[in-house]
Amino acid sequence: DSEILKDKFGREHTYLRISLTERCNLRCSYCMPAEGVQLSPKSHIMSYEEVYDIAKTFVDNGVTKIRLTGGEPFVRKDIPVILEKLASLPVELSITSNAVIIDKFIDVLKSNGIKKINVSLDSLSKEKFTQITLRNQFDKVYNNILLLVKEGFTVKVNAVLMKGFNENEIIDFIEFTKDIPVSIRFIEFMPFDGNKWDLSKMVSYKDIMNKVKSHFKESSIERLQDAPNDTSKNYKIKGYKGSFAIISSVTNPFCDSCNRLRLTANGKIKNCLFSSSESDLLTTLRQGEPIEPIIKKAVLAKFKVRGGMNTLEKLQKPQLHGKNRSMITIGG
Ligand code: GTP
Ligand code: 5AD
Ligand code: SF4
Repeated sequence: DSEILKDKFGREHTYLRISLTERCNLRCSYCMPAEGVQLSPKSHIMSYEEVYDIAKTFVDNGVTKIRLTGGEPFVRKDIPVILEKLASLPVELSITSNAVIIDKFIDVLKSNGIKKINVSLDSLSKEKFTQITLRNQFDKVYNNILLLVKEGFTVKVNAVLMKGFNENEIIDFIEFTKDIPVSIRFIEFMPFDGNKWDLSKMVSYKDIMNKVKSHFKESSIERLQDAPNDTSKNYKIKGYKGSFAIISSVTNPFCDSCNRLRLTANGKIKNCLFSSSESDLLTTLRQGEPIEPIIKKAVLAKFKVRGGMNTLEKLQKPQLHGKNRSMITIGG
């Protein structure tokens, strides 16, 4: 391993999130503007060979975990080849998906050693699901979550909570974990370009725990040990098969233990989810030049907290920090 993945604050970046596509088969309002996003021309999107070459460079320099994101990773036609290529690297490979079409890839996932899948599902009500995603795919997603569990995958369900929309489903989601061994993770709604974020729409860590404590006896709520570099604070209700967790990027950021770098589908490094600055790797790779110096520079430019938006006030005025992308083109 080399030192190029260590930042000024001593954080070692061993987790790379690769966005494979800017396209998605859902239209979630918290993730993309209603009018859609301007897609990069196809020639600017990494081919599977390029994804592999860049991933290999990161792995050679110390990355031990790669998560594939999107858009929706499974809308890429060459996803089986990408999985096969990346599975040949000595790295833990996982995927975040909306699970709409994941049932078609169970064998491909298994044969490439993928064991952990994170699935986005923001409501257990069919009507609300359609309202937030603008697509009538609730049954597919719900059944595919059950299928993944049955097939032995470790499944985390991501639910972005929004005031007045799905905050009343917190208990229903936890009850879902009574018989089904998934981790349901409540995520604080975060600001991105075009998603009309407002602090008043966010359901905070504290709001969530208050709700949980008002429903369950304090003695039945168990705080679990979090994994190193975990994004979430983990809990379970005693006796339930699954667990629940909270991802508090806004009210209680976990930047001190951040080990993540992002690679966008058009081949740029983002050193932080909230950072507007990007470093172009793909152009350099296509010129046949080494990409390590660009990686090193991007890592050294990383801010201590949230891409420099270290206070709530700054988070509310992202335009002062340059324009970030829409979530759909970052991949979470
Ligand atoms: P695990 O590998 O299972 O721990 O998944 P993960 O939490 O890293 O990834 P996932 O794609 O499931 O993302 C869940 C939520 O956490 C999304 O809303 C992401 O935007 C958010 N998230 C993931 N990584 C980071 C990060 O580095 N910083 C912040 N602030 N949020 C993150
Ligand atoms: N705030 C918080 N989480 C978000 N995600 C997408 N947009 C947002 C947002 N604005 C989540 C999705 C997905 C994960 C990768 O990122 O729910 O599961
Ligand atoms: Fe890492 Fe940025 Fe997320 Fe903080 S906000 S954990 S620095 S990616």
